[in-house]
Amino acid sequence: MKNILVTGGAGFIGSNFVQFMLNKYPGYTIVNYDVLTYAGNLENLTSVEKNPRYRFVKGDIGDAAAVTAALKEYSIDTIVHFAAESHVDRSISGPAVFVQTNVVGTQVLLDASRAHGIERFLHVSTDEVYGSLGATGYFTEQTPLHPNSPYSASKASSDMLVLAYQHTFGFPGIVTRCSNNYGPYQFPEKLIPLMIANALNDRPLPVYGDGLNVRDWLYVEDHCSALDTVLHRGVNGEVYNIGGHNEWKNIDIVKLVLKELGKPESLITFVKDRPGHDRRYAIDAARIKNDLGWVPAYQFETGIRRTVQWYLQHRSWWERIISGDYKNYYAQQYANR
Ligand code: NAD
Ligand code: DAU
Repeated sequence: MKNILVTGGAGFIGSNFVQFMLNKYPGYTIVNYDVLTYAGNLENLTSVEKNPRYRFVKGDIGDAAAVTAALKEYSIDTIVHFAAESHVDRSISGPAVFVQTNVVGTQVLLDASRAHGIERFLHVSTDEVYGSLGATGYFTEQTPLHPNSPYSASKASSDMLVLAYQHTFGFPGIVTRCSNNYGPYQFPEKLIPLMIANALNDRPLPVYGDGLNVRDWLYVEDHCSALDTVLHRGVNGEVYNIGGHNEWKNIDIVKLVLKELGKPESLITFVKDRPGHDRRYAIDAARIKNDLGWVPAYQFETGIRRTVQWYLQHRSWWERIISGDYKNYYAQQYANR
């Protein structure tokens, strides 16, 4: 493993992963292949842009010729595939691009990778493919897929394609399914950065429904270390769940953020629920722990404090985002709630 193509490397997790890998492996070259949608931001990568082992290629995963050219030009042997449309709410208001990018884009990437003779293909997926849990129990790798949103349906489809290519063609594909990430560079449409940004601007914090939906939060650097582990030690054709047993009700997360920022709970506003809103996610990560020896390093208290500090110290990063096109998205998304 020498030359890694990271798709979606300008997004939240991808940009954390690019930095993580460049720091950890002095012998690796990382090519960031990203089309730069609204969620892609090269500002996330200013710390590595002059690194001779880092390259950026602007391209669409659905463009077979462009993918093939990048694989050849940089003698790519490994792919870590993050590129996707990633926001559930956007998939409800506009599903088509989710199918185009997450399903068709992944298929195009798989064909190009197969023709090129890639040695390892790590597909970064989500616990949302398993659907919703009741008050107890966990998602294991054996849990039947039951995606409930257009986003999770598109991710489940792409997971199935990767596993089918492995089964049919002996393609070296592996799938990981991680719980909710939080940390630096997360786009402010997602719960934690949205609440931080609104609180800092003394704007209402829109909590969907009764606020009792549960998510299982993992610090983004822990996700990166898990992907690194699977990349080097995972078995082709396997699925690995990634999570840190850290379940929180949304309302408690929002209150915690307010406490960290010294802002009043009166900013909390309960709004109309997300259609089809999954009630609870919780990951059983026993396989990656037992088979590959991965466990998370961050306590939630440390991770959330670091995250809040990062948003306080990088105010211009998120203010530039929320003052651009995002303004229109926010107005539409939260107008009738
Ligand atoms: P993100 O929305 O922040 O970033 C997505 C990136 O993909 C952007 O840089 C965007 O420009 C790029 N992209 C989109 N369409 C593309 C295309 N057609 N060609 C090339 N690049 C394209 O997403 P994220 O939150 O960093 O998530 C990354 C991956 O991890 C996704 O596959 C997501 O399903 C998965 N995941 C996310 C989480 C989470 O909590 N955020 C948890 C588990 C899994
Ligand atoms: O579980 C992994 C998934 O986590 C990833 O696959 C997705 O890419 C990622 O976006 C995330 O999906 P969620 O839908 O869980 O994340 P989001 O931040 O959008 O919402 C988290 C919870 O907070 C969810 O129950 C909805 C709620 N919420 C969200 C927003 C944006 C609110 O109450 N108010 C809000 O304004």
